[in-house]
Amino acid sequence: MYRSNTCGELRLSDQGKEVTLAGWVQRSRKMGGMTFVDLRDRYGITQLVFNEADDSELCDRANKLGREYCIQIKGTVSERQSKNEKLDTGDIEILVHELNVLSESATPPFTIEDNTDGGDDIRMKYRYLDLRRASVRKNMELRHRMTILIRNFLDSKEFMEVETPILIGSTPEGARDFVVPSRMNPGQFYALPQSPQTLKQLLMVAGFDRYFQIAKCFRDEDLRADRQPEFTQVDCEMSFVDQEDVIGIFEDMCRMLFKEVRGVELPAKLQQMSWHEAMRRFGSDKPDLRFGMEFVELKEAFSGKGNFSVFDEAKYIGGICVPGCADYTRKQLDGLTDFVKRPQVGAKGLVYIKYNADGTIKSSVDKFYSPEELAEIKKVMNANDGDLVLILSGDNANKARVQLCALRLEMGDRLGLRDKNKFECLWIVDFPLFEWSDEEQRLMATHHPFTMPNPDDIPLLEEHPEQVRAKAYDFVCNGIEVGGGSLRIHDGKLQERMFKILGFTPERAMAQFGFLINAFKYGAPPHAGLAFGLDRFVSIMAGLDSIRDCIAFPKNNSGRDVMLDAPSEIDVKQLDELNLKVDLKD
Ligand code: AMO
Repeated sequence: MYRSNTCGELRLSDQGKEVTLAGWVQRSRKMGGMTFVDLRDRYGITQLVFNEADDSELCDRANKLGREYCIQIKGTVSERQSKNEKLDTGDIEILVHELNVLSESATPPFTIEDNTDGGDDIRMKYRYLDLRRASVRKNMELRHRMTILIRNFLDSKEFMEVETPILIGSTPEGARDFVVPSRMNPGQFYALPQSPQTLKQLLMVAGFDRYFQIAKCFRDEDLRADRQPEFTQVDCEMSFVDQEDVIGIFEDMCRMLFKEVRGVELPAKLQQMSWHEAMRRFGSDKPDLRFGMEFVELKEAFSGKGNFSVFDEAKYIGGICVPGCADYTRKQLDGLTDFVKRPQVGAKGLVYIKYNADGTIKSSVDKFYSPEELAEIKKVMNANDGDLVLILSGDNANKARVQLCALRLEMGDRLGLRDKNKFECLWIVDFPLFEWSDEEQRLMATHHPFTMPNPDDIPLLEEHPEQVRAKAYDFVCNGIEVGGGSLRIHDGKLQERMFKILGFTPERAMAQFGFLINAFKYGAPPHAGLAFGLDRFVSIMAGLDSIRDCIAFPKNNSGRDVMLDAPSEIDVKQLDELNLKVDLKD
């Protein structure tokens, strides 16, 4: 028996017990004739005491223990003289009479405590040591717990867990595929799934009725705090349901998770907001509703006033009212102008109006507008004395709104309004079915090509595709898209029309999706589904800034695993077997 108890378990009621513990040396300190060692395992920390007066040879050995040595001890539980309220085991200590070093440790490259001195890179390189830190491990424990809760919930609702393959053909979700060369089929490649989308639809054709999978997905896209090239979805699909059925069941799942994990009661019915409304009010299809500062459209209010050509020529003018910030200094306002001009935001400039607490008005455009005109804007903006109004304009309304959204979120951050312990969830519905891609110069599916158009809009498909709404829905929490899904097309003919509008020739559609088009010939049921990003869900619940913190072995911003040093070159023999030759372009 390696241990009788864990390091988080013993209490004053265990006083006098003989115990065996095993774990890692967090730290040790010598005080007079006593040596104290903090022994750590996954469950907690227990203080060990070695008394020179009792056994000087044992105490000598304890003094030689280094940080992160893996040890086993035997001893007696005893009441601690100076109690430590911060520790669950803080009332007791173990008077050690036997010490067994299981494994020595080299000096760790950083301190393995919550407040570590290790930078990002070093912690990623030694991720197994980083994971020893309670603050990091806690996130992984939460992830485990949420996964179990989700599994149990879905099981109770008759969802069947099915594994779908990782080596497949391309599944278009709007990102690039990761590909794997096939040795047995020279010159041919598998693609790793961007999601199990088409496969879960085939499971519906198979009559499985309700499917789920905790599915690994792979997307070769630029990384951000909420994106990894390899991530996990809670992927679900259901037959014989409509949009409200799907939303209802997964709203219940989310309600259960928030209650169990955070003790938070979500409202009985979550708000549903159309994509158009979300764009108009917040400039985003994933609005952060933890704070206000809603957009006010000002085109009309400014028209016929002043002589500011930028506003006169703009198609869209929108403002936000930042409460209590009229005292922003010139430097702070210049900082905000720099912020909106950053390439990531892309605005040309920022207009401000300070409605000062003393009733005076100061604005970056006061040479173009009279004080009376600016006072009228104050009414439209619903601003009070002491507020700061920030205004952006542009030729393309939605682009300008997206820029104003970045500014709104920045102000939310600056004013501390994006509280990590507050949760505001909603569904975004009525997405446009298509979006224009400047890069590809063609219409692309907003979600994916299998999304059902709103039946009322089907007649518009060919003539006015941009007006067609999708039967699609996203679950948004605190400004993050946590999940998304849709009703699917189950009619082969309609699916063919979709492929055509998306620019697929019938041959290419058949080559890429023949299996699905064929399957739909055999009595495909109406079906719908959605997928939650598990990493994002956990990181929101844990209040993390990046999903990396709840992934055991994440990639860095360049998509590298610095610990495994992957990706890496492979040797010539492996390339030969794959019939490949690497000839890199510059
Ligand atoms: P979608 O592409 O919206 O839908 O993905 C579903 C959810 O997966 C998460 N997600 C990611 N998480 C981390 N890193 C990434 N790179 C990443 N990309 C997506 C998000 C997102 O909401 N097949 C459809 C679902 C369906 O229609 O049923 C799909 O994959 O939280």
